[in-house]
Amino acid sequence: VTAAAWPTPSGNILLGVIGCPISHSKSPVMHTAGLKALGIPGAYVPLHVTPDKVGETIQAIRTLNFRGINVTLPHKLAVIEHLDKVDRAAEAIGAVNTIVNDNGVLTGYNTDGIGYVRSLKSEAVSDLSGRRILIIGAGGASRGIIDALLQENPSAVIIANRDKEKAKRLAEDWKSRGDLKGVGLDEIGRYIAGTDVLINTTSVGMHPNIEGLPIDPDIIPEGIVVSDLIYNPLHTRLLLESRSRRGCIIHGGVGMFIHQGAYALEYWTGRPAPVDAMREALLSSLG
Ligand code: ATR
Repeated sequence: VTAAAWPTPSGNILLGVIGCPISHSKSPVMHTAGLKALGIPGAYVPLHVTPDKVGETIQAIRTLNFRGINVTLPHKLAVIEHLDKVDRAAEAIGAVNTIVNDNGVLTGYNTDGIGYVRSLKSEAVSDLSGRRILIIGAGGASRGIIDALLQENPSAVIIANRDKEKAKRLAEDWKSRGDLKGVGLDEIGRYIAGTDVLINTTSVGMHPNIEGLPIDPDIIPEGIVVSDLIYNPLHTRLLLESRSRRGCIIHGGVGMFIHQGAYALEYWTGRPAPVDAMREALLSSLG
């Protein structure tokens, strides 16, 4: 542990998540299990924070000596101006999901992208270097994983989006880091050949609209890795049909959620996260 901010004088570690709404968040159940498995006394609490109270809340983190905070929608961008430091990746993405408090000095990180890549590598494809990646979607979720994917040295990253201009802008933002190209979703048939890893970052197929498909599974090359950031349902129609019709290796979004939390817990405690205990708690709360 690097910080004197933890343990607090009471001997506990104080952690939480801010968002609006927050009652649906699965982070408290997952991190509470994580703390318990590590044998660390403390608490991880959901904090309902409206947009007008973000600045005051960040100040309260310092006052109350919280060791760390996760940040969820809609505050991932708004917290940045209230922090003392922002990590390079979080700065590039333009969003913070994890804050670490070192004796009143607050640093913002983004563990979504690195959490996603750790999950993808542990569950579906151990080495991404030299692989050709096709990402569907160019919104916040797509932005969140691109930086971490480029760290793995893929041979190319194609971003296909319904709004083609948005895909082109996203590719342009990271062009110094690799071979990126933004294309229209309607052009995907021209770019899909040679893809090793296909990633859906759109909300198409998410509960309750589980019949949705971001692309026609019939055009997916056989046997490739197909990943979906959606975790409700655990396996989207895209994943199920890619596997049954194209023999693909599939990867759902729940691992990303677990590993973004695992990285955060590691930053706060300085200890390897008890990933299995966190997964078990999350899955049983999902029912
Ligand atoms: P998030 O932060 O979850 O990425 P977002 O920033 O609103 O949310 O982005 C949603 C993404 O899903 C976008 O890429 C969006 O495409 P557009 O930019 O063209 O809107 C994509 N998306 C949402 N609904 C879609 C649909 N029915 N078909 C195809 N793409 C869709």
